Amino acid sequence: MLILGLSNMRDAAAALVENGRVIAAAEEERFVRVKHVTALPVQAIRFCLRAAGVRLCDVDAVAVPWKYWQIGRRGALALGSMLRSPQLCWVKGKRSAERGREWMELVFLRGHLTRLIDGTACPKPVFLDHHLCHIASTVFVSPFDRAAVLIVDGASEAHTTMLARADNQDIQVLQRIPLPHSAGQFYAGITSYLGFKPDQDEYIVMGLAAYGKPRFAPVLREQVLRLLPNGGFELNTRIFDFHMARHRFFSHEFLRLLGLNRQPEEEITQRHRDVAASAQMVLEETLLHLAHHLHQQTGLDRLCLAGGVAYNCVANSRLWREAGFREIYIPSAAGDSGAAMGAALWLTSRRGSLTERMVMRSASWGPEFTEPECLAALERAGLRPKRLPDDQLCEKVACELANGRLVCWFQGRMEWGPRGLGNRSLLADPRREDMRELINAKVKLREPFRPFAPSVLEERASEYFDLPSPSPFMLLTVPVRPSAKGLIPAVVHVDGSARVQTVDATSNPRYRLLLEAFGRQTGVPVLLNTSFNVNEPIVCTPDEAINCFLRTEVEWLVLGNLLVGKT
Ligand SMILES: [Fe+2]
Repeated sequence: MLILGLSNMRDAAAALVENGRVIAAAEEERFVRVKHVTALPVQAIRFCLRAAGVRLCDVDAVAVPWKYWQIGRRGALALGSMLRSPQLCWVKGKRSAERGREWMELVFLRGHLTRLIDGTACPKPVFLDHHLCHIASTVFVSPFDRAAVLIVDGASEAHTTMLARADNQDIQVLQRIPLPHSAGQFYAGITSYLGFKPDQDEYIVMGLAAYGKPRFAPVLREQVLRLLPNGGFELNTRIFDFHMARHRFFSHEFLRLLGLNRQPEEEITQRHRDVAASAQMVLEETLLHLAHHLHQQTGLDRLCLAGGVAYNCVANSRLWREAGFREIYIPSAAGDSGAAMGAALWLTSRRGSLTERMVMRSASWGPEFTEPECLAALERAGLRPKRLPDDQLCEKVACELANGRLVCWFQGRMEWGPRGLGNRSLLADPRREDMRELINAKVKLREPFRPFAPSVLEERASEYFDLPSPSPFMLLTVPVRPSAKGLIPAVVHVDGSARVQTVDATSNPRYRLLLEAFGRQTGVPVLLNTSFNVNEPIVCTPDEAINCFLRTEVEWLVLGNLLVGKT
């Protein structure tokens, strides 16, 4: 059973799954070079079919993680908002038109795909419940047979949160929280209030929160997001209004409570940091409230998470430590791109064909390029590489890193999900206090307060981090051990935490060799790892890697076994 999952909404993506085994998956943004693009994922679909060596007509079914006809509730809510706040109507109308185009694309999906992909017949699309697809995206690739499941995002067709129990492929939905009560939209609203892009820059707010004091948390708890005794929560939509608005989420009353919102170019003040810290605290409390309830209801000690809010790695860690669960699994693409893969897995399961269930410990499901393709790209750019076998390459790169040089590291299949995890990464020495400033100066024009993350050999992780189990997808923020803080200052956030990636023995052999070599040379098997991009989606092809490398002051580029230095 070969099933193509696709999503044409924000974070458009495609994934191909055979009997529950993932063959390929990629986000459309990497091909069209627009972050978080909303589009029919034509390029991602073409890639998935190419990776499997099949045509569209060879696919048994197309699965879409949206029941587009179940959106009546959104329309009613939007109408209510317009009547309450006429000044928001223009923005709402624009957003509404965009959303209408996305839904219409789904109505005529079969014809669109046949015309745009390869001209062969498209199987009938099957439209699936969005949150059930999120559930499949985590449960069906997790190492657990039985687990409690928590899905939290901005909104599905009509809901924002789902609590469930998974017993192998049997999913029992325990509770759903309807629109407009959305923890994801609450955080997106605060993101917008702080002058950042909602549904995109939430991780900036999460980073900023560490610098603030949560002095507005009581106001937010009492006036904006209230916890309910049954494990649920409610948003006060008289104050917080977001149903269809992209740019304004908050009312004048909200501004009276917290003060004026920040404009994008405005300086960040302590009040802004305090608002970020307060919102982060209230989000964490809300998730803990949900998770405690889920733990009580199910009595299970393993938790699967997904939905856009599962990218909040600070909150994830609190769930792990405080909600009573022993183990936690979060897929690398926890947000809406992941729902495309979830749709394929969910449909496979419903059709009784999920016979090859796999545990996903690697995010390497995207395009890869051969050495001749990399050589041709280097030649086009006028660069002359040196080819080195793995051991020599890793010793040389480790030595350069230890001497303070930066390295663009391009290997194998592009990552599935928003992080560079050792295949499309920019690497540096975490031992240097000034490395953060150096990277920001040489490469990334980004907010100076945002932390960089470490990769570490899995079996050595506990020497440096208070991490109870592996974190292969960089989705957990954990305390750095006091004894290690001075050893790896460049990856320790202001609150003493780090967003860790553990690298095991099998999922990424060459990256592991590099970590081992760096560990041998320096005594510290840890590297600073940030994604390989500069104000654009992560690079996909060798040409994009080379162009990005040449735009920066990074000293070294590695494409597979090919090493290129700037002279
Ligand atoms: Fe979602």
